[in-house]
Amino acid sequence: MHVHTAVVPAAGMGTRFLPATKAVPKELLPILDTPALQLVIDEAVGAGVDHMVIVTSHAKPAIEAYFEPSPEVLAKLRDTGRAVMADRLESIGRDVRVSFAYQDEALGLGHAVGCAREAVGDEPFAVLLPDELMGTSALLDQMARLCERTGGSVVGLKEVPHDEVDRYGVIDPVGAPDADGVVAVRTLVEKPKPEDAPSDLIVIGRYVLTPDVFERIAEVRPGAGGEIQLTDALRAQAESGPFHGVVGRVRRHDTGNPFGWLTAVVDLALDDADIGAPLRDWIEHRLANGPDVG
Ligand code: UTP
Repeated sequence: MHVHTAVVPAAGMGTRFLPATKAVPKELLPILDTPALQLVIDEAVGAGVDHMVIVTSHAKPAIEAYFEPSPEVLAKLRDTGRAVMADRLESIGRDVRVSFAYQDEALGLGHAVGCAREAVGDEPFAVLLPDELMGTSALLDQMARLCERTGGSVVGLKEVPHDEVDRYGVIDPVGAPDADGVVAVRTLVEKPKPEDAPSDLIVIGRYVLTPDVFERIAEVRPGAGGEIQLTDALRAQAESGPFHGVVGRVRRHDTGNPFGWLTAVVDLALDDADIGAPLRDWIEHRLANGPDVG
């Protein structure tokens, strides 16, 4: 079945990015001039998704405000000849249906995905974590096709240095990934010690899940801090049916902390047609001469 719905969990507290996230949700922090949330929506639409379910909290009204029409701003832009930006603003939420689901207590990623159950219905769906940027729709598209073909859930994967595995969910693979990066998954382990890790392949923030995951989430026992972990539900799926991973060839950025966000912005800006060259000049000048004073 075609994957046409994507869930974006955006109800977390963003504690690693305080105080910026005290008033501005981290999902709306700009990557150059575009909120991270918009970039993941564009990625999902590029993979064939036509329905976005944003899981948010009533404490983050700015998320919904982002999708509301802004007639005064539009009028001003049109009156002052800035039609390109006006068109861009008008297109927000137009090319894709946007629904909201609410998670008013941040009880973990598994719980957040579970909150989207009604909006998703009984069909496979994608999940995109908005604090990870991939810069391409190709990985999600490949994962969606694999889910359609195998009838099982699919996770995005990345290889990391062995001593970093204890920060992530790690898969136990059946053999090595094939030429397309596809590998069958026996099970998953959350934050293993390097000596216990079954591989160096970590789960990144892209998933295509079959709807039975909602039953699995409902069965998960809360862990530390009362959190319902998505990994626990995925492990139950992997141990009872087809389950695959795809090693992505992506420029992945974790924008959920200040350093990751900054490197994402610089990386994208260096490739930007307008500001790439001046930014490069500025950085070279700054590194050679130190800060400009006076
Ligand atoms: P993170 O763990 O990176 O987000 O979850 P967080 O909890 O907001 O961040 P820190 O650790 O406090 O800095 C990844 C995504 O899942 C969402 C977050 O909003 C983020 O987009 N999330 C996380 C939820 O929607 N609900 C949760 O209970 C937890």
